[in-house]
Order: sequence, then structure tokens, then C-alpha cells
Amino acid sequence: MSEESDVKLDLQNESATENPSEKPLSKNQLKKLEKRRMWLETKSERKAKEKLKRKLKIQHARETGQDLGPSRKLLKSLKMTESTCKLKVCFDLSLADVMMPPEFSKTFKQLHRCYSINRRAPAPLQLYITGYSDATKQAMSKMSGCFNWDLNFNPQHHTDIFDKDTIIYLTSDSPNVIESLDYDKVYIIGALVDHNRLKNICYENAQQDGVGHARLPLDLYFKFKTRKVLTIDQVYLIFLRLSEGRSWAEAVMDTVPKRKGVELLEQVDGALDNSSSDVIADCVIENAASPKSDESAIIDA
Ligand SMILES: C[S@@+](CC[C@H](N)C(=O)[O-])C[C@H]1O[C@@H](n2cnc3c(N)ncnc32)[C@H](O)[C@@H]1O
Repeated sequence: MSEESDVKLDLQNESATENPSEKPLSKNQLKKLEKRRMWLETKSERKAKEKLKRKLKIQHARETGQDLGPSRKLLKSLKMTESTCKLKVCFDLSLADVMMPPEFSKTFKQLHRCYSINRRAPAPLQLYITGYSDATKQAMSKMSGCFNWDLNFNPQHHTDIFDKDTIIYLTSDSPNVIESLDYDKVYIIGALVDHNRLKNICYENAQQDGVGHARLPLDLYFKFKTRKVLTIDQVYLIFLRLSEGRSWAEAVMDTVPKRKGVELLEQVDGALDNSSSDVIADCVIENAASPKSDESAIIDA
């Protein structure tokens, strides 16, 4: 996608030079274009360096007797569908068109990270990637052979795949709060990197689609110095950790980077409970406020 857009900009610039009636690119755009061109030119060199770095790291780990994790051969023989964990998490790629090329690239990297972690997890989640257009599919194929990944790919929108009653769209803008995991639901993560440009986009889409939505209970259990919007891979990791029977406190504190300035609120029941591993129907607190401002949040199934 990024290379395509570069070509587009290139053509735009060339045609502007040939045809003075078309608006030429600004200095800023040209600078960005040049930076991008340089980045692309040095791409293979950077890849080779990274490969060597990885090789040396593995060599060092072998020599020092460190655990290298499961071998490639073993990983190949493990299938997601055979996992003991049946929790469904779906990445919604239908928002790809609203992203700038670098944002899309970051989104893809985060999805890649989720997949790598899931593949190595003792009990992987049941992952889905849905709602991608032909252009997005092409862009993803160019970036890697991701369509060979052992997860469920489906270009259809999640509302055409799952029963609407089972869908919970995760978004920090929802007034509802998720309390514990419900294995009968499918949790949708917006595959979106927007640097806070598009507040409410997922919440509004979920409302329009008539599906359930909820935010993580971050304000119930934690103090944050920054915004409580997490990245795609952080949300995935929290779900993986909850599915492994860890508490919200453990799952969030082990996932969210220190720079977010997250601290556990003292004496809040639930944060330290291991209730997340239970299959609980009453999983969403509707219209919940922070416990400090409203003690009477209704628990509703
Ligand atoms: C970078 S966020 C995208 C923010 C976007 N502006 C939105 O409307 O949600 C990527 C995705 O992570 C999930 N997410 C991030 N923080 C969350 C939170 N506090 N509660 C629930 N889901 C969250 C959502 O699924 C969101 O779509």
C-alpha cells in the first residue's frame, strides 16, 4: 500500500511538472516523498541487517544455554483449531481505507506480532482477520506471506460471519465495561492505528451495525497518566493473558508499557480476582462510570 501510494505521488508530481495547470506538491510533501524514497531504497539493506542480528541473537542464546522456545518444526505441527482455548478474537480490517500508508504498515506489524505470540502460546486464542478489501489483501500479500498464517481469514464483514448477538466490539469509547471473558462471544478489535485522529469511529460503527460494544475496565482498576486507548497487540495480549487465567491486574500491568504510567488503584475488588477464566454470562457492565463517581453501575448480561 505504501509503495503504491509513493508511485501515486510520484506520478502526481511528474504530471504536475509536465502540466503546469495541475497543482505541484508542496515543499513539505516533497520532503516526505524524498524521505520515503530513501527509506524504500535502504529497505533490503535494513532487512539483511535485521536478519543477521536475529541470527547472532539465536547463536548467543544457544551458546549461553538460554531457552529458545518451540522449534519451527514443532510450531508447524501445532494447529490453532486444536487449541484448548476456544475464545474468539477477531481483527476488523474494514477500517483500512481510513488509514495513511504508514498507519496501515504499523497496523500490519501489530497484527503480525499478535499472530507470532498466538502461535507460540500454549493455548492459542481462535483468531480471525475479517473485512478486508481486495486492495488491502494485495497490500498485505506484498508485505509478507500472511495468507499462509494459521488463523481464520475472511474478507466478509464480521456482522456477516458471526451472529450479531454474539459480537462485542471493543472500543475505549464505549460506555459499557467488560468485566470477564464470555466464551460464547466474539471480541472484535479494530485493526486500526489512527494516533487518536478518529475518536469514536469504532463505537459509532458498532452502534450503526447494531452489535454489542464495551471498553476494558481500565478506569475501574487502574490509574493512567496517559489516554486509555491501547494498541491492537496490547488488547490482544490482555485477552490472551486473561484466557490463561490471569487477573486484570496481572494481564494489564504485564502488557501496558511503563511509559503509559499505569498504576493499580488500591483496594478495588475484581482487579486481583482470577474470575476472568470463568465462563460468566454477565460480562458487560452497561453504562458504567468510574467506581469513584458512580458506585451503582448496573451489571447487565
Ligand atoms: C488504536 S485503537 C483505535 C482507536 C480508535 N480511534 C477507536 O475508535 O477505537 C485499536 C483498537 O484497540 C482496541 N482498544 C484500544 N483501547 C481499548 C480500550 N481501552 N478498551 C477496549 N478496546 C480498546 C479497540 O478495538 C480499538 O479499535
